[in-house]
Parts: sequence; C-alpha cells; structure tokens
Amino acid sequence: MRFDKRIVLVTGAAVGIGRACAIKFAAEGAKVVALDVNGEKLEILKKEIERTNGEILTLVCDVSSEEAVNNAFKRAKEHFGNVDILINNAALWRDMSPFLESSVELWKKYLDINVLGVVYCIRAALPDMLEKEFGRIINVASVAGVYGNANMVHYSATKGALISMTSALAKEVAHKGVLVNAVSPGSVSPSDVYDLQHTQPTPLSYMGRTGSVEENANLICFLASDEASYITGQNIQIDGCRKKQ
Ligand SMILES: NC(=O)c1ccc[n+]([C@@H]2O[C@H](COP(=O)([O-])OP(=O)(O)OC[C@H]3O[C@@H](n4cnc5c(N)ncnc54)[C@H](O)[C@@H]3O)[C@@H](O)[C@H]2O)c1
Repeated sequence: MRFDKRIVLVTGAAVGIGRACAIKFAAEGAKVVALDVNGEKLEILKKEIERTNGEILTLVCDVSSEEAVNNAFKRAKEHFGNVDILINNAALWRDMSPFLESSVELWKKYLDINVLGVVYCIRAALPDMLEKEFGRIINVASVAGVYGNANMVHYSATKGALISMTSALAKEVAHKGVLVNAVSPGSVSPSDVYDLQHTQPTPLSYMGRTGSVEENANLICFLASDEASYITGQNIQIDGCRKKQ
C-alpha cells in the first residue's frame, strides 16, 4: 500500500478535510496520529478507522499551545515512531467581520491557531525529518490566502502567511529530502457531513459545485506520496476553477 510504514500526523482531524485525510491515509496503510480539540469526534473517528483495521492514535491537542503540541509529538513518537508526514489542517475560518470590526483579540486568536499552530507542529516534526532525510509537510491554506476574501481579512492574512511560509521553508530543506507544499481549497462541502463524497451547488466555482472532502484528501495524499517526489514549494489550488470575488 502507498503509505505502508509511514507515520502521518493530521491536525484538525475530527471532521471535514482532516477526517477525510485520516481515513484515506489509514486505508492506504499509514499509521495515523489524529490531533484535534474535539475529543468526542476524535473518538468517533478512531472507532471508524479501527473498524476497518486501520491504525490510529487520537490525541486531544490545541495546536495554539506549543507545550501541548510538543507533548502530542512526544506521545506520537512513543506510540508509533517519528512523524514522516505532517498535515497542518487545523484552523479557524468561519468568522465574517469587516476589517474595522475585527478586534485585535480576534486577530491574535486566528494568528495563534492558523499560523503559530503550524509553526509549532513543523518545529516539532522537522528535526527528525531532516535526520531521516525524508519528510512531507502539507499546509492546508485557502484561496482566501491567494485572492483575499472581503470580511475575512484576518483569515485571509493567516492563509497568505502559510503560502509564503511554505515556499520559503521548502527552499531551506529541499536538499535534505523534506518536501513542503500547500493546498488551497476553494468552496468545500460542509465539514460535518458524514459522506466523504458529498458535494453541493455553489456559485463560487465554474464547476458549479463544492469540492468534496475526499477530493481534497486525494490531493493531499498525492502530495504526501512517493509519486510527488519532485514537487515542493508549491501552493496547489483545488477550487473547481474559482470565480474570483
Ligand atoms: N471548508 C472550506 O470551505 C474551506 C475552504 C478553504 C480552506 N479550508 C481550510 O481547510 C481546513 C479544514 O477545514 P474544514 O472546513 O474541513 O474543517 P473545519 O473548519 O470544520 O474543522 C477544522 C477542525 O480543526 C479543529 N480545530 C480548530 N481549532 C483547533 C485547534 N486550536 N487545535 C486543534 N484542532 C483545532 C476543529 O475542532 C475541527 O475538527 C482549514 O485549514 C480551513 O481553513 C476550508
């Protein structure tokens, strides 16, 4: 199987794109470490993956706490070994506030989770990847980080930061076998829908529909696989041909 012997850590794995990634990686032979603040939904995911004989360790972890992230990586290492593939997916995105109504507290919360949460996870994973001379880091950004979404300046800024962080870090570590890429979804099907293939109409893409969480996971798994061995420093949009707002 494609991810036999690989250890994959997915943040924000309880629902949506993160859940679809956890399920797909496990189905393709990976040992999956699933992090989320939502322990209840992590338990449901664990049962779902174990029912199909997949291997999963679930850890309740708030990625905006460096200490919690370091503890989670320590437990992952003790349980499975070093993380080979890191999927930075956890984020906040639902708040819609015009710029002048977006408080500094809101900005700090978004920056803490969406940017620093990714920094903490990469700092925890990278030393072992460099030593092994193998690693894949995939940051889940957004089309908002490319085009900017009105009333989501705070969110757009965090995703723009991830995209530039991706290309800058990729240059530092490419010669050591660590590949760093971003994916930028457009409109994704609601993350609380159980069916991984669910899509629904949206006026925001020329394809006229949302992308399923499975379609997003397919791209992420491809970038994490050996088939993507010459791709790094990229931001790949998965948006059904986005209508720019
Ligand atoms: N859904 C979309 O339309 C869309 C579009 C573009 C980009 N994205 C990006 O895709 C990713 C996944 O979004 P989604 O809509 O599939 O899921 P979601 O936003 O519904 O859920 C994200 C998961 O992250 C977890 N989470 C939130 N804060 C956390 C924290 N501090 N520590 C750990 N876990 C935390 C949540 O509990 C949840 O399980 C996000 O990075 C989002 O910005 C989503």
